[in-house]
Amino acid sequence: MHPLYNKVKNTLHKTLPSKPFLGIMCLLLLPFIIFLHLLPATIPSAAPPLHPGYYANSCPNAELIVRNVMKKAMIREPRSGASVMRFQFHDCFVNGCDGSMLLDDTPTMLGEKLSLSNIDSLRSYEVVDEIKEALETACPRTVSCADIIIMASRDAVALSGGPDWEVKLGRKDSLTASQEDADAIMPSPRANATTLIDLFAKFDLSVKDLVALSGSHSIGNGRCFSIVFRLYNQSGTGRPDPSIEPKFRQKLDKLCPLGGDGNVTGDLDFTPRIFDNQYFKDLVNGRGFLNSDETLYTYWKTREYVKRYSEDQDEFFRDFVEGMIKMGDLQSGRPGEIRKNCRVVNGGPPMDLVVDGYKDRRILSY
Ligand code: HEM
Repeated sequence: MHPLYNKVKNTLHKTLPSKPFLGIMCLLLLPFIIFLHLLPATIPSAAPPLHPGYYANSCPNAELIVRNVMKKAMIREPRSGASVMRFQFHDCFVNGCDGSMLLDDTPTMLGEKLSLSNIDSLRSYEVVDEIKEALETACPRTVSCADIIIMASRDAVALSGGPDWEVKLGRKDSLTASQEDADAIMPSPRANATTLIDLFAKFDLSVKDLVALSGSHSIGNGRCFSIVFRLYNQSGTGRPDPSIEPKFRQKLDKLCPLGGDGNVTGDLDFTPRIFDNQYFKDLVNGRGFLNSDETLYTYWKTREYVKRYSEDQDEFFRDFVEGMIKMGDLQSGRPGEIRKNCRVVNGGPPMDLVVDGYKDRRILSY
């Protein structure tokens, strides 16, 4: 029952004067009560439908502005494309695509930036700030940070030589963020294919979506921290992951010696600045960087897709786009807003009160 219905009903109950008027009033109020009954079905939910061209009237240059800032950022620092593109995954999986991962911690809210998968790992938040600033100048309070992530991710792929596609827009920004929720949802680089299949299924994403979306690792880098276990102690065996091709393992051993600096980075595939199907060719050859990558080839349910994408880049691109659009549709249905600054909710704490998570809170190191 809609809460408004109960409120009106209770008020009526307390204030109805006497029985003689009851019948007349009921008759008069009947259409209104019927209307209230229908409210849950007729009032649009807090998650309005998304559609392409959402800003065509309110901010006609929005997509152009985002692409131009992305272009500049990727010229300045080529890896930033991959780093921004990763935001879509980390945003959409935690309570829907709502820009929650962009919120800085506050004295009363531990956000997602320091969660296990994000701390010391997600980067290039300043590129989103730059996009937001440009959009606020062109059309104040119009384009959500959640939509910026979706547009910028698409642009990063297109600008790296991958597919280009039309994105659906119209998302709202969350009013809060939760480190706990991010920790509970985001997968570990140690994850195996069955865990990943189960996780993606929770979001109505298929085995095919999982493999195609993992193809995002065609661009970008990962830290030694994310792979030392598979180099030296896979599944507690004290031995390396046997699926790593020996020459590649030698290379990784050199890059990431036991007890070395966990923040040193390696390429996620052999062409880390080009969005192509090299990632899948690498997996077939036992040269996947992360355990969660190589497991897609060693496990029978996912192997066929890896093989196909390694041979047919067009098919990979098609399925990748389909997966990105599906992932972009995830919405929590919670109320939202268009943030003025992607790092803080409107009317939130003044910036000097915001805890700078990177410097002050490394309590979650694992
Ligand atoms: C299937 C489960 C996934 C797992 C377990 C996973 C895990 C990881 C890990 C561990 C890293 C390296 C982080 C580090 O060492 O600091 C990484 C990087 C990256 N991930 Fe994923 N990921 C997954 C899926 C995705 C998806 C679906 C996308 C996007 C659609 C994505 C995009 C990226 C990108 C672009 C990078 C490189 C970022 C950079 O260079 O800064 N990942 N991922």
